Amino acid sequence: MPRSKFVAGNWKMHGSLSANLSLLTAVRTGVAGFRAQVAVCVPYPYLAQAQSALAGSNVAWGAQDVSEHVQGAYTGEVSGQMLNDFGCRYVIIGHSERRSCYGDTDAVVAAKYAAALKAGLTPILCVGETLTEREANITAQVVTRQLDAVIAGSGVDTLARAVVAYEPVWAIGTGKTATPAQAQEVHALIRARVAAGSPDVAAGLQILYGGSVKPGNAKELFGQPDIDGGLIGGASLVADDFIGICAAG
Ligand code: 13P
Repeated sequence: MPRSKFVAGNWKMHGSLSANLSLLTAVRTGVAGFRAQVAVCVPYPYLAQAQSALAGSNVAWGAQDVSEHVQGAYTGEVSGQMLNDFGCRYVIIGHSERRSCYGDTDAVVAAKYAAALKAGLTPILCVGETLTEREANITAQVVTRQLDAVIAGSGVDTLARAVVAYEPVWAIGTGKTATPAQAQEVHALIRARVAAGSPDVAAGLQILYGGSVKPGNAKELFGQPDIDGGLIGGASLVADDFIGICAAG
C-alpha cells in the first residue's frame, strides 16, 4: 500500500490568540477534503485553542517538544500526559533548534522519543546535518547517528508509531531548500537504515522533508520516491502558503 502524504506545520515560537484564530480557521476550511494528512504543532499555551478550533476537522495538532519525565519537580517542563489532556496526536522531538539551543543531545532526544510513545503520542523525530557537516561529507554519519540513538533506545519497531523528518539545518529558515535529489538521497538512506532492522517498518515509515518548503517547491519535493510530505516552519504561519503546500501532498 502506498504511504499517504503528511504535511505538518511547526509554528515555533510564533502566534497570538487573535492571529491563531484566523490561521487555524483558514487552515481547517482550506484543507478540508485534501488527500494529505495535515497537522499543526503549536506553542504549548495555544494547545487548548488549537483543540477547540480543530476538533472534528481533518487537521490534527500537537506540540513542539515534551519532557522525558512522566511528572515531578521539573520546573518549566511539560509531560506527554499533559499533551494528551489537550488532544495532541503529534509531538516534534529533536528539532535542530532544540538540539543546538537547549542541549537536546542524542541521549535526551532518545529519552523524549520514548516518553512521547509511552504517552501514546506520535513523535515526529527530526534529524539533519549542519552546513559544516555537509561540507565535511559526513551527512550520512550524522543522520545515521541521530537515528541510531533512538533505535537503540526504543527499538526499530517503534518507528511504526512514529514519523521521521529530515531537516538539513542549513535549509531551515534560510530560503535555501535542499534540491529534490539532495533530499531524496538522505531520505533513501534513512529508509535503508530502518530497513536493516525491519523492512516492514521501513516500507510504512513516513519520512518528511523540512527546510524552506514553499508552495512553489513542495510538489517536486513530495514527488520523490522517499519523501512523504513536509515539516513546514515559516510557510505554516501563512494560511494560503500552508494550504498550498498541503495541496501538493
Ligand atoms: P522553515 O520552513 O522556516 O525553513 O523551517 C523548517 C523547520 O524547521 C520546520 O521544523
